Amino acid sequence: MKKSMKLNVLLVAAMATVIAVTTAFISQDKPSDEIDAKVQDLLAKMTLEEKIGQMVQYTGFWDVTGPTPSEGQSKRKYEQIKKGLVGSMLNVNGAERVRKMQEIAVNETRLGIPLIFGLDVIHGQKTMAPIPLAEAASWDLEAIEKSARIAAIEASAMGQNWTFAPMIDISRDARWGRVMEGAGEDTYLGTKVGVARIKGFQGDDLSANNTIAATAKHFAGYGFAESGKDYNTVDVGLSTLYNVILPPFKAAVEEADVKTVMNSFNTLNGIPATGNKFLQRDILKGKWNFDGFVISDWGSAAEMINHGYAADLKDAAVKAANAGSDMDMESYAYVDYLKGAVEEGLVDESVIDEAAARILRVKFELGLFDDPYKYCDVAREKELLHHPDHHAAVLDMARKSMVLLKNENNILPLKKGQKKIAVIGDLAADKDSPLGNWRMSADANTAVSVLEGLEKYADVKYARGAKLLNDNNTNFFTELDVNETDKSEFKEAVQLAKKSEVVIMVLGENAYHSGEARSRSKLGLPGVQQELLEEVYKVNKNIVLVLMNGRPLTITWADEHVPAIVEAWQLGSQSGNAIADVLFGAYNPAGKLPMTFPRSVGQVPIYYNHLNSGRPTSDAIFWVHYMDEEVTPLYPFGYGLSYTTFEYTDLKVNAEDAEAVTVTASVKNTGEVAGEEVVQLYIRDRVASVARPVKELKGFEKIKLAAGETRTVTFTLTAKELGFYNNNGEFIVEPGTFDVMIGTNSAEGLAGSFELKQSL
Ligand code: NOJ
Repeated sequence: MKKSMKLNVLLVAAMATVIAVTTAFISQDKPSDEIDAKVQDLLAKMTLEEKIGQMVQYTGFWDVTGPTPSEGQSKRKYEQIKKGLVGSMLNVNGAERVRKMQEIAVNETRLGIPLIFGLDVIHGQKTMAPIPLAEAASWDLEAIEKSARIAAIEASAMGQNWTFAPMIDISRDARWGRVMEGAGEDTYLGTKVGVARIKGFQGDDLSANNTIAATAKHFAGYGFAESGKDYNTVDVGLSTLYNVILPPFKAAVEEADVKTVMNSFNTLNGIPATGNKFLQRDILKGKWNFDGFVISDWGSAAEMINHGYAADLKDAAVKAANAGSDMDMESYAYVDYLKGAVEEGLVDESVIDEAAARILRVKFELGLFDDPYKYCDVAREKELLHHPDHHAAVLDMARKSMVLLKNENNILPLKKGQKKIAVIGDLAADKDSPLGNWRMSADANTAVSVLEGLEKYADVKYARGAKLLNDNNTNFFTELDVNETDKSEFKEAVQLAKKSEVVIMVLGENAYHSGEARSRSKLGLPGVQQELLEEVYKVNKNIVLVLMNGRPLTITWADEHVPAIVEAWQLGSQSGNAIADVLFGAYNPAGKLPMTFPRSVGQVPIYYNHLNSGRPTSDAIFWVHYMDEEVTPLYPFGYGLSYTTFEYTDLKVNAEDAEAVTVTASVKNTGEVAGEEVVQLYIRDRVASVARPVKELKGFEKIKLAAGETRTVTFTLTAKELGFYNNNGEFIVEPGTFDVMIGTNSAEGLAGSFELKQSL
């Protein structure tokens, strides 16, 4: 094919995308099918109040197996369920409990419409997988999908039919505690991971009893909270909104058929997401033709009052419903005010019909009308929770999630007969922190600790060194009490280190240092841990630092001094076993960072795909830099070592013969052991009508190579990878020169370029 023809193909493909998008926007009609007919049939029988009832979600309020609530809020909720004025419950957990509550909806209400039960099943139900940020570090989409599948199997066995996951917010700010819940800073990787997770939760057949509806959240911009403070203002430009924030949600709808989308607590450019018509009606339900329903975040409709966007709860109900927020989680706005608002003409009844229809549709798709108790089988629950296959899978996921950050003089892996191993650090014996922050159903203290894992390999000696917290009785609802002063155990640890050949130090964050409302202004090792590390280093430099944390940390001192560093995040139930396997070489680590590690907090937000600026390079003083800090990160996005080494050669770009650009490179395992490598492809569109980033990930492949083996890896770039959104939200591909890089991380690789010529 001639070059101009090929390029035309690319451009036509791009235009087709624009046209398809426009068509979807204009046509609001969905293909009517069997389920739509059933929905319409049911809707016709419902009163206005009952339809609004479908739009109401309450949190669990009484133990259904105990006495019926006779007063207060619980009584009110109970009576409303009986009247068919509630569509969904969250936080009711367990096959028996869900059954009992479902029985009320099915047997006692006029129309017997089943409730949909939701829960935050974020990285496991009982068998806990690594936190999502850790899983993303595996760059292994198959394993990630499987992990979500297992979570769905266990959650559905406990009565759940809906999870509020995955969180697909892109975030560039390690101060924001919820980075632990997402896939990091990059839109391309985040999109792939989000799609994999949704597929894992929803499976091939949503009506099966072991699949659950997923939620793409938080729509939108939540990861861009100003100064990394959770719930804070979000102000982003159009280019960032269209190119960075929205694509994972678009893919969740269009590629993964996600059933629900959760809006977010934040304002986006001045408009709260919950009352944001542009986001929910124009983009999500309009342009993308989303046919599931939108759930608010917890109380987010009511929070519009604090935002200064709604005058009172009634106004909040009107604004949220009109903006396309279909179900109200715990604001009491819809249940108390929507009926009146419709009667007063503030909300059109068609808005209620649409929302109720969307919710009912998902209930039909789940098969709840055929069998409302399909998730309520106690025998199945017993059989599936903590199933050995699930533990085998989360162990595999945990190994894949670790990132080797440093390994000077190949101090790792430890030799099998290695004697005199000291283990130091409170987190080494911690059986709880590895379970992570989101663990609604997990049993406390059930993870395999690092110490337990190591003891299977060697005779190790342990000294805590210092407690991380003053009070270990932590949970989701309390602030941490970090030990900032007590160093009384340092001495014992230093003595132990002195007599040892190798010191494994397990340091980092408690599980509740990250997650919702866990923003930090400092990103070092909390408490007295840094001091402990430095004291131990004074007597023994042979340190392997194992980090346990839910976000990137500023471990600059450790990087300069400590010979080996393993990023082990919070790895779930099998944490200690996975870490021991890596430290002793039974598993060769292959994870790559999904988020840039800063040198200091002042660099944040720091991310690899930034714009170039007008003064990108060192020219005496007047360039984009700090007086007192490097501009480069400590570890770049995509970075991670292995126990072997890889050599990249032969970058070839073929922009001539195909309908798309093909880029190839050879990767050789130059070390002595087999290993896996995530081969990464980045592009740069040098000149465009909207400035493009200095680098953008547009492909990756994880390959396994035996020692000495070479493989050629091929990437294909089409309009989808080469185009971008302009500030009108239109996807375009522009001609011109593109740089291309294939490498081992976002900062190192082989570079080439090609021309994309336009002949239109
Ligand atoms: C608030 C969180 O922001 C959201 O992600 C979660 O799903 C809800 N609470 C329900 O627990």
